[in-house]
Order: sequence, then C-alpha cells, then structure tokens
Amino acid sequence: MTRIMIIIGSVRPGRIGLPIAQWVRDRVEAAGHEVDLVDLVELALPFMDEPEHPGKRAYTQPHTLAWSARVEQAEAVLLVSPEYNHSYSPALKNALDFLAHEWQAKPVGIVSYGGASGGLRGAAALDAVLSTIGLVRVPVDVAINGPHGHLVDGAFVPDAKNDAVLGRLIEALGRYAEALRPLRA
Ligand SMILES: Cc1cc2nc3c(=O)[nH]c(=O)nc-3n(C[C@H](O)[C@H](O)[C@H](O)COP(=O)(O)O)c2cc1C
Repeated sequence: MTRIMIIIGSVRPGRIGLPIAQWVRDRVEAAGHEVDLVDLVELALPFMDEPEHPGKRAYTQPHTLAWSARVEQAEAVLLVSPEYNHSYSPALKNALDFLAHEWQAKPVGIVSYGGASGGLRGAAALDAVLSTIGLVRVPVDVAINGPHGHLVDGAFVPDAKNDAVLGRLIEALGRYAEALRPLRA
C-alpha cells in the first residue's frame, strides 16, 4: 500500500480534470493504495506569498504550513494535468513552487490530456520543474486525446488503452515509492 497524492491541475469551472481525476482515484483505490485527492480549488493557495525560498522551510503562512504537512504524508504523486497553450496550468505550478523538500525522492506520474497531442507538450514542460524539486518521474505516461468524447453522464469513461496504461502507471508508482524509501528517510 502506497499513499498516493492525486493533484487536479485544472481549477476552471466545468473542468474535465475533475471527472478524469475521479476515474484515476477509483483506479488507485482499487489497486489497494491510499489516496489523498487534492483539488486546488479547495486548497485555495494564493499566488506564492512566502518571503523566503521554500528550500529554507522558513514558512510564514498557515496555508503553506498546512500544504507542507499534507505533501509530507504522500509517498507518491500523480498529476492530472491539462495542456494550456502547449504547457501546463499555472495553478499547478504555483502549488509545486510553494514547497521544496516535501517533494524529494517521491515518484511522480502524469495523466495528461488535451487535443490531438493528449497533453504531452504540457507534460514535457512539467518535466523540468518536477526534476528540479526532486520528484522522480516514472517512465509511464497516460495521455488522453479529446477527453470530452469520453464523458458519459458527467463521468469519464476511458478507452481500454488508457485504462491499461493507468494500471501500469499506478504499479510503477508503488514500486518506485518502495525503492526510493531510503532516500526519503
Ligand atoms: C487557456 C487554454 C489553453 C489551451 N491550450 C491548449 C493547448 O495548447 N493544447 C491542447 O491540446 N488543448 C488546449 N486547450 C484545451 C484544453 O485541453 C481543454 O479545454 C481541456 O478541457 C482543459 O482541461 P480542463 O477542462 O480540465 O481545464 C486549452 C484550453 C484552455 C482553457
């Protein structure tokens, strides 16, 4: 069992990121892992408002301390990430930027989505950020083309390929979380 934090990158009203994340959450739980589903709308972080670099851990704001404690609990991270203008969402960047040590030596996977590219350009743009803050990217990508065609009564119904790849991604997160445990100690 691994404690997996799922972060929904989109904060837009009517976002498809929410039903996609609900599918991801159900699959992670069905694989026997514990989920912390982070909705950045509910988290409501302001734009980065700490005076010191997060690497110093000299946090001054209650929202930063709460976010730090929450991420600390996670053993792996799964990002549900839309593509915006060939990159990823600013809300996700802000949430990542708030912390530093808390991300270290935790495996991360991306479920990206967008038009014909499946959000892969956004995922590629994320890579540099993730490695800089010490997250370890697992080599499995779920990339969903045209996700709106997979909505049924508001629920996201994946095609067989994406569902199978998500299974491999979840399995990789569990294995990497175990292997990286000594580095997090
Ligand atoms: C500001 C903005 C920029 C976008 N840019 C891209 C893009 O570069 N490539 C793409 O495939 N889709 C793009 N899209 C379409 C999104 O992938 C699509 O709207 C998707 O539903 C966004 O995810 P969300 O509903 O969870 O916010 C863009 C959407 C928005 C709102």
